[in-house]
Amino acid sequence: MYTEPEQQEMQADPDWLLRQAEALLDGYEDPVANAANLSALLYHSLPDVNWAGFYFLKDGRLLVGPFQGRPACVEIPLGRGVCGTAAASRKILRVADVDEFEGHIVCDLASRSEIVLPLIRNGELLGVLDIDSPVLDRFGPEDERLLAGICEIYVLSLGD
Ligand code: SME
Repeated sequence: MYTEPEQQEMQADPDWLLRQAEALLDGYEDPVANAANLSALLYHSLPDVNWAGFYFLKDGRLLVGPFQGRPACVEIPLGRGVCGTAAASRKILRVADVDEFEGHIVCDLASRSEIVLPLIRNGELLGVLDIDSPVLDRFGPEDERLLAGICEIYVLSLGD
């Protein structure tokens, strides 16, 4: 089986992803540029992922930001789908089977499980980080830990 070089690095050292994220963002504060590089890093480093990207809170709803994967829905109202629910509750949502999540918004029919993490800066909701997988129950506590670290690195990169 082909394994991307980034996945080989992660197998050797899971925290490689966090160090790589810090290195990529070091010295850059732009929210779009940093989200673009992080979505590419996550998409190519995490095994069994078919979508990785950002939705940003704009005019009271989530608007799609930089991502890797198939084209996605542009707008998600707060409280709708996995992304809108995570944003409204400001809680990390791990969905083992998206078919069991009432109101799940289908962007790619291949998606079977999903994790969504809110991005919060100084108490203000900026948006969410969303990762989808074609594998059921793909995301465990270790993924949650790493991705929460990625969100922290992203928020800190934006400065004060
Ligand atoms: N499935 C998400 C929508 C975004 S896509 O997966 C990229 C949801 O239910 O909010």
